[in-house]
Amino acid sequence: MQLVIDSANIESINKLIEFFPIDGVTTNPSIIVNEQKPFFPLLKEIRSLIGEERELFVQVIAKNAKEMVEEARFICEALSGNVLVKVPVTMEGLKAIKLLKVEGIRTLATTIYTPMNAYLAAKAGAEYVAPYVNRIDNLTGDGVKVVSEIIEIFKRHHLSCKVLAASFKNVQQIHNISLAGAHGITAAPELIEALVEHPSIKENVEKFRKDWFDEYGKESLLLNSSK
Ligand code: G3P
Repeated sequence: MQLVIDSANIESINKLIEFFPIDGVTTNPSIIVNEQKPFFPLLKEIRSLIGEERELFVQVIAKNAKEMVEEARFICEALSGNVLVKVPVTMEGLKAIKLLKVEGIRTLATTIYTPMNAYLAAKAGAEYVAPYVNRIDNLTGDGVKVVSEIIEIFKRHHLSCKVLAASFKNVQQIHNISLAGAHGITAAPELIEALVEHPSIKENVEKFRKDWFDEYGKESLLLNSSK
């Protein structure tokens, strides 16, 4: 299951790629605006920070298919490496996904709220769909159920599109999505960090270190360490 950072914050991305097994970075217009920086240098900085191998997802702004395609071409020409263009699943978006597929430009269909949104995007040629789990929950829907049904529909109809679930507000949602069999999740930095947090871990580690120190008088396993 892919683990992707949903952020355009340089400090957070830098920290997470150092400590966590990160596969890529997703952005959207609001996430970029939050950083209050010129958007293009920011995207280039993220690109160079995460390396060519990790996937970078950048969303189009245009409303009609023709302009979405032009923006997608611009994004792919200007940013090297593994770049995917995020396209919202409007009718114009579906048309753009079909056109971009023909051009060999990889897409992620975003703003997915229903299994049928996902089915259409997959059939149009999107490489990923991003169902908005928490936003669905907030609308008194069931984000996990929507994701499970998308996965089932893709399996039954042999659609090779991957599910990169997005929009999370807590660890339990990510846990449930993982069990449902999503191909990946994209989450805010603080939520990715929360995946490793458990009070017992710190307590256990401290006890191991204390036992060791009490017996050997050192805080290291290395024979020549002065610690
Ligand atoms: O890219 C989609 C995702 O960022 C939406 O997440 O937390 O704004 O609902 P959120």
